[in-house]
Amino acid sequence: MIDQLYRKAVLTVAGQKTIENIVRARGWGVAQRFVAGESIQTALNAVKELEKDGVLANLDLLGEFIDSPEKCTAFADNVLNLMDAAHAQGIRPYVSVKLSSVGQGKTVEGGDLGLTNARRIVGRAKQYGGFVCLDMEDHPRVDITLAQLRTLIGEFGREHVGSVLQSYLYRSEADRAALDDLHPNLRIVKGAYLEPETVAMPVKADVDAGYRKLVYAHMKAGNYVNVATHDESIIRDVQHFVLANGISKDTFEFQMLYGIRRDLQKNLAAQGYRVRAYIPYGRDWYPYFSRRIAERPANVMFVLRGMVKG
Ligand code: FDA
Repeated sequence: MIDQLYRKAVLTVAGQKTIENIVRARGWGVAQRFVAGESIQTALNAVKELEKDGVLANLDLLGEFIDSPEKCTAFADNVLNLMDAAHAQGIRPYVSVKLSSVGQGKTVEGGDLGLTNARRIVGRAKQYGGFVCLDMEDHPRVDITLAQLRTLIGEFGREHVGSVLQSYLYRSEADRAALDDLHPNLRIVKGAYLEPETVAMPVKADVDAGYRKLVYAHMKAGNYVNVATHDESIIRDVQHFVLANGISKDTFEFQMLYGIRRDLQKNLAAQGYRVRAYIPYGRDWYPYFSRRIAERPANVMFVLRGMVKG
């Protein structure tokens, strides 16, 4: 409960324009703990660094809720540039995309611009043997994102596109079951947005219990699962679950965020688990950064100290 109140307070304060302006002006130094620079090359350098520890990468060009159709298409072009650059440097392009950043919900020439741009991105991933994960955003976007996932899997195959379910949403268990005919590659997360209690569980213990349920159900149904959490007790339980159920290490992976629990990422990789770090980069880092701060009280002190130091 306290966790939810804390998150609500931080995200509400962070949403105010004056706070945003101050943090944008003075916070880049601290934001770099969570964001791998502003350019494609700094992101690819981070991929190469992680490779040394046996950790794979999931690249994310930051940007969300972009307003004009032209900017959305330009954003999609930048994701294509990222994939081209990764491929040229011998890196398999594995990227995450927020459909709001490429035009989801905007109708252009009779079609949803988000889907049109997603087709270009997933098509390029297929060409390079890569993968695209459609990040999950706030709850009004869940229906359309899952519908577009269905379309994209139909056109390009589940080896090249997947999405995310959030255990804090009451609906996620039913959503998972409804996708089972596709055998989709899904990332399971707890959920990072400020959501009303009518749609999201307010008690952390319920979110955690829901998380385990989703992971176990998706594994039992024979699907590839991305266990995206830094929660060590969940990670331990998943390790026991896969052992007890004879689930092979190549049918799931652990995923964590860049800059968070690097020790744990390295340690799991050394034990032979597949581990992937989510590497965000780009100039539009503020909303992503705010959600990371809202996840952990100690992070607020980290930011304040960093900003005072300049
Ligand atoms: P929890 O919040 O319970 O934290 C467990 C422990 O992890 C903490 O005690 C702390 O030690 C550590 N920790 C967690 N967050 C930290 C932080 N910010 N700084 C320092 N330590 C921290 N969400 C979403 O809504 N849509 C999405 O598409 C995604 N995508 C995504 C991809 C990947 C790879 C990850 C790991 C996470 C996401 N998320 C997400 C975010 C997710 O919903 C959730 O907010 C965070 O993962 C934090 O929750 P945990 O599962 O780590 O557990």
